[in-house]
Amino acid sequence: MANKEIISTMKRTKIIDLLASEGSGEKVLCKGWVRTRRGSKEFSFVELNDGSCLKNIQVIADQSLKNYPDIEKITTGSALSVAGALTPSPGKGQKWEIQAESIEIIDLAPDSFPLQKKRHTDEYLRTIAHLRPRTNKYGAVFRIRSELSYAIHRFFREQGFKYIHTPILTASDCEGAGELFRVTTFDPDTPPKIQGKVDYQQDFFGKETNLTVSGQLSAEMLALSLGDVYTFGPTFRAENSNTARHVAEFWMVEPEMAFCDLAGNMDFAEAFIKYLVVYVMENCMEDLALFAKFVDKQLMATLDNIGSSDFERLVYGEAVDILKTSGKKFEFPVSHGQDLQSEHEKYLTEIHFKKPVIIFDYPKGIKPFYMRLNDDNDTVAAMDVLTPRIGEIIGGSQREERLDILEARLEELNLPKETYWWYLDSRRYGSVPHSGFGMGFERLLMLVTGIRNIRDVIPFPRTPKNIEF
Ligand code: 4AD
Ligand code: MG
Repeated sequence: MANKEIISTMKRTKIIDLLASEGSGEKVLCKGWVRTRRGSKEFSFVELNDGSCLKNIQVIADQSLKNYPDIEKITTGSALSVAGALTPSPGKGQKWEIQAESIEIIDLAPDSFPLQKKRHTDEYLRTIAHLRPRTNKYGAVFRIRSELSYAIHRFFREQGFKYIHTPILTASDCEGAGELFRVTTFDPDTPPKIQGKVDYQQDFFGKETNLTVSGQLSAEMLALSLGDVYTFGPTFRAENSNTARHVAEFWMVEPEMAFCDLAGNMDFAEAFIKYLVVYVMENCMEDLALFAKFVDKQLMATLDNIGSSDFERLVYGEAVDILKTSGKKFEFPVSHGQDLQSEHEKYLTEIHFKKPVIIFDYPKGIKPFYMRLNDDNDTVAAMDVLTPRIGEIIGGSQREERLDILEARLEELNLPKETYWWYLDSRRYGSVPHSGFGMGFERLLMLVTGIRNIRDVIPFPRTPKNIEF
């Protein structure tokens, strides 16, 4: 068994390590929560889980244990500390079990414990988000979340990127969509006013402040100093859209690369998604198998497809033409100059190309101010990566590095140049072509687990009218 030294009086062996053990008869101390108990006057079988992996360890307790009468009363959800010998299990599907030498009941759960042994709906489990990580499915989701966070850092490190931290409190609206959560220390009933309007000069930061919708603008400043950087952190959007793929608080991964154009950005985005998909297939198979069995029967085929196919690349105009001539009736009709809807993304990735698609060169009218204007004066060097089942997973662009054009764009969009003085400075001193993108971490998790509602891949989802837990 892996000898994992921990400096703690609570020393225990995790079930994941127990199950990988080589030695029989080994004395172990294991702690966790009871999934089930069954048995007789002579024996009890307890299925114990500690969250370290999907599998439980079976504990055999016999009547010679001095607290056997209490052991017979052990309920689902109770917490135990078990000491005993690891022995080969005659039962199917498990290599080891523990012959208990002592069982301490750390806490006995009453029968009101909501996760009794039966299937619950996702909707119900959302109402007990504080307990759902104790189910097989949600335990697996949050383990994969952890593994993929690690894989992201590993990928960037292998590629020579520096990890940077961008602020959560900001005074700018990167995406210009106005979906901001305001931050203030004013009493909402009596804010100081000047000429009938709230006087933000008296507020904590002396100006209007909000939670970030993207770390990009700050990341650009670091990329223009350190070369290749990424930020990975919480992001907030007050989008009032109650869809299965939007939350108000999500995690975004944002690489930013100096001396990189749109083509380089697309290559990098494609390599990134493939790396992560292959990573979970190589490292999280036990948990993935659960999703492939109970959540999405096509999961492994979808992941194989993403890991192995060349992503289709086409300009926005071509994508619109394909949709227009598809003969399919869409709820939102497509037209040049309009943003694509999720039904359009679905058609392109699932029906037309049957693989991930990167659409680039969007009309400037539907994209933010910072994207690089193309020579046609009409489109910008934007790119979105769409995948089957998810639709948009990545949004990015080459950035406008030319000061005069950037200033003209700000004016065109009626954005205050004063607020962006520092951003414009970066185009004044050693400006270079650079690019980057943002990947929604929860969308990635939906992709790799097959889970269809974004509320089910983040422990405590924040959505309109919901901030419980
Ligand atoms: O396309 P978006 O808005 O791009 C940006 O914010 C750029 N500034 C990123 C950059 O270039 N550095 O958002 C990027 C991604 C989307 O493709 C989507 O995956 C995710 O963030 N996303 C959301 N995920 C969950 N809930 C929401 N409300 C989301 N909004 C965007
Ligand atoms: Mg986008």
